[in-house]
Amino acid sequence: MDIVYNIVVVLHFVGLALLLGAFLIQITSKEKAVTRWMFDGAMTQLLTGLIMVGMLESGVMGEAEKAEVDTTKIAIKLVVVLVIAVLAAIGRRRQPPQNVLWLIIGLLTLANVVIAVFV
Ligand code: HEM
Repeated sequence: MDIVYNIVVVLHFVGLALLLGAFLIQITSKEKAVTRWMFDGAMTQLLTGLIMVGMLESGVMGEAEKAEVDTTKIAIKLVVVLVIAVLAAIGRRRQPPQNVLWLIIGLLTLANVVIAVFV
């Protein structure tokens, strides 16, 4: 089961790369846009995150791993990623420039990285 879990962790990082990459690549552009990669990245984070939590909480990864799940941290990350997904879905229907939406999505993504690492 470890191999399955580790593959999901790798996909969690791929989702992060999609989301953050789609933000950072536009940092020097005058007219920022919300791209499909932001929505796809958010969905990847949501799906892989839920699978990891499911595997940990079910106990298949072991009792120690189950006890270590931080539900407060997961709940915060869940809310943040849902906000990102909604903003990305709204942004995809609008025409650029979307500098404010682009910035909020990027800052929320970075916030979730900080929460994942520091909380
Ligand atoms: C934009 C959204 C997200 C970002 C940027 C993000 C980022 C990260 C990062 C950087 C890590 C590795 C650092 C660490 O393990 O502490 C991580 C791990 C993890 N994330 Fe996320 N995450 C996001 C969304 C979610 C969501 C929505 C969930 C659950 C519903 C989730 C569940 C987890 C779990 C369970 C781990 C632990 C993996 C492990 O080390 O075993 N994440 N996340």
